[in-house]
Amino acid sequence: MKGSRGHPPVRNVLLMGTVLGALTFSGSVAADGEATYNSACVVCHAAGVAGAPMLGDKAAWAARIAKGKDSLYQSSLKGLNAMPPKGGNASLSDADVQAAVDYMISKAQ
Ligand code: HEC
Repeated sequence: MKGSRGHPPVRNVLLMGTVLGALTFSGSVAADGEATYNSACVVCHAAGVAGAPMLGDKAAWAARIAKGKDSLYQSSLKGLNAMPPKGGNASLSDADVQAAVDYMISKAQ
């Protein structure tokens, strides 16, 4: 390490931290997951419209959660039967939709 004093990687590490921070929405329930649910998903998932699994209905969610989170992300992003892609709100980012799924899962456990 011929006395190389500057630390060029530091900037990159900081940058990476920022990017990762922005991408790390799963694990904890992001506040915007709840907000997205309330704006884009609640119309169907609060009352079980068209067979939508209701928020907090553990029995209805257990079988879906058993398929794995990725599978739920996929059906939320791409749609599933009467469930439109992104709940019909195409302006939502994938991360918003996934945060809303995380929120719904957290209420069913
Ligand atoms: C127009 C009504 C409607 C809206 C709006 C809606 N959903 Fe759904 N959702 C459904 C229905 C109906 C199902 C059940 C689909 C089935 O299993 O046939 C469903 C199922 C799901 C499932 C389970 C999928 C699976 O693979 O079992 C998830 C997760 C989900 N919705 C997430 C969301 C999220 C997140 C939003 C908001 C961004 C949302 N939904 C908005 C109607 C809706």
